[in-house]
Amino acid sequence: MDKKVTLAQLKEVVQEAYDQVKTNTGGKNADYIPYLANVNKDLFGISVCLLNGQTIHVGDTDYRFGIESVSKVHTAILALRQYGAKEILDKIGADATGLPFNSIIAILLENDHPSTPLVNAGAISACSMVQPIGDSAKKWDAIVGNVTDLCGSAPQLIDELYKSESDTNFNNRSIAWLLKNYNRIYDDPDMSLDLYTRQCSLGVTALQLSIAAGTIANGGVNPVTKKEVFDATLAPKITAMIAAVGFYEHTGDWMYTSGIPAKTGVGGGVMGVLPGQFGIAAFAPPLDGSGNSVKAQLAIQYIMNKLELNVF
Ligand code: DON
Repeated sequence: MDKKVTLAQLKEVVQEAYDQVKTNTGGKNADYIPYLANVNKDLFGISVCLLNGQTIHVGDTDYRFGIESVSKVHTAILALRQYGAKEILDKIGADATGLPFNSIIAILLENDHPSTPLVNAGAISACSMVQPIGDSAKKWDAIVGNVTDLCGSAPQLIDELYKSESDTNFNNRSIAWLLKNYNRIYDDPDMSLDLYTRQCSLGVTALQLSIAAGTIANGGVNPVTKKEVFDATLAPKITAMIAAVGFYEHTGDWMYTSGIPAKTGVGGGVMGVLPGQFGIAAFAPPLDGSGNSVKAQLAIQYIMNKLELNVF
């Protein structure tokens, strides 16, 4: 895919996507976490980060929303940085599960393996691997520092969301202890789960997520701050993981219709990586039946198809 788009083309098409999708009334806010149910459902923003550091943003791209499962990408990168590609493959995996994000059956079907850091089991396992082992405060600093480097500015913990998540994460508690049973947790299970829950509760903007995606698309160098966040050899590894399972059991449909590896979160964010071209993020709270933002999907699909871009 050698086609390069210009800033002017992108600006026009991003605005078109925003105008077309803004009035869509499909989907509803996540309601299994009380905080998410109450976010303004009309918020909507699209942001693109080009590899020269220029950004295009339309709509509510400065609104801080819960990063949720998109954070799995960030911490997968941290684990890759700390352990290298081979050890992450061995200890967690890089496979699609074909099942929902919080599946327990997926752990059993993969013969005790968490499959990938981009589903709950693998993400909790990745949090357990974050160094230094045994020190929750320092592990948290490493997680937040890594998100900050990727986004080019700091996220902020949304305390109310963290409380909401912690009060309702019974399924994830089961996952953490099932992984412990299979020796796939590499630190204290409750601490690992708490770190996962807290990272999901970080508030980020669509602009920040587009810069994080741009950093991956740019081979590990943040296009805005110019900082080398991770080694270039890890960029295709994390992008392969996103392409394989970014939309969980609907990843094939997503890749088929959009052509861009992307990761979703129930906070309404979607972050897409087009290697060598740009990072993109869209945010709107109402979700489809599978927990993916309706407007964010439509907007990114529109942009990719209108510009005839495709990772394949
Ligand atoms: O693990 C959970 O339930 C949430 N904190 C994250 C869920 C999520 O974003 C799933 N992805 N779309």
